[in-house]
Amino acid sequence: MLVNFVTDEPGKIPAVRAMLEPQFHVMPQVLQSDDAQTGANGMLMVDADLRKRDCVERIKRVLRVKRTNPEKMFVVPSHLQLMIAQAYALGATAVVSRPREIVTKLIQFANDEKADQNNADSVSPETRNSAVALASMFSTARESNPVNPADAEYATSQIITNIARTGFNRWLDEVRRHHEGTFQHCLLVTGIAVSFALDLGFCEADVKRLGLAATLHDIGKARIPLAVLDKRGELTPAEEEIMRCHPVIGYDLLKNIPKISGETLDGVRHHHEYLDGSGYPDGLAGSEISDLVRLLTISDIFAALIELRPYRPAMSRVDAYKILCDMDGKLEGALVKAFRGVAFNGTKPSE
Ligand SMILES: [Fe+2]
Ligand SMILES: [Fe+2]
Repeated sequence: MLVNFVTDEPGKIPAVRAMLEPQFHVMPQVLQSDDAQTGANGMLMVDADLRKRDCVERIKRVLRVKRTNPEKMFVVPSHLQLMIAQAYALGATAVVSRPREIVTKLIQFANDEKADQNNADSVSPETRNSAVALASMFSTARESNPVNPADAEYATSQIITNIARTGFNRWLDEVRRHHEGTFQHCLLVTGIAVSFALDLGFCEADVKRLGLAATLHDIGKARIPLAVLDKRGELTPAEEEIMRCHPVIGYDLLKNIPKISGETLDGVRHHHEYLDGSGYPDGLAGSEISDLVRLLTISDIFAALIELRPYRPAMSRVDAYKILCDMDGKLEGALVKAFRGVAFNGTKPSE
């Protein structure tokens, strides 16, 4: 397999070659030189200082040329949370820190590539496009710039197209295999919400409305400190308190953008509210919670339960649905019942 190695330090190239060749073919590119190499085949491996703005800009230029590389692995020291987030914002499909992880990931990519060549489980362009648009949205919000509604609309439309074309189950597999963290969560919530809306027989415009609210629902997490957002393990009460700010932060980020509708803002601010008034941030209850928010909340909880996380196994869809059923009083029972079709769609008992 061809590895396009992009770095800001030419001195790293011999070590990478020694580590990977002859098992892999390494094609190096140094960021400081402007001789853009245009190889779009194989996978991309980036090892550069993502704390430097000019370095990030150069990587963006490389990525524009190499946007068809399905796999983008970033090598980042594990303690530098900001660089890890930057890597995902640039569209990383994997972030690794140790040489052993690099080789393991490359072998996995090579195996996936072989499987893809046999027409199995390849990543569809829509999944890739939606992830890139989502990454752009989060990166903009993190850098204190106004979110571009076109990014959210594009990501949503790509997810709708994908699910309509390949079905929910295949799409779910793709997202869980190729994305991590907050991006995986937002993609999953949107896909689940879209599938829910399609299952309920919503018209195209309503599928889009719910999908858009889902795409943007956790945008406030772009401003949550990464030490909290990406913490592996349980949050302390103080960290939990910080995390609980994300609906209001998201609302504040979007409220002055003319193209963002009131119902999208409602979804962003209120997707953690419960019918019995025990949710946050506003403690809404009963009829104060709109239909769109009720659908979004069910999709959000289900997505969070079935996500793949590096530090814990994903819950089965059957068990996740049981938890939704046990939340009677908090979620609308009739909608949870209707959600059964999405939760169990094509599952085997072990899923
Ligand atoms: Fe949330
Ligand atoms: Fe969420």
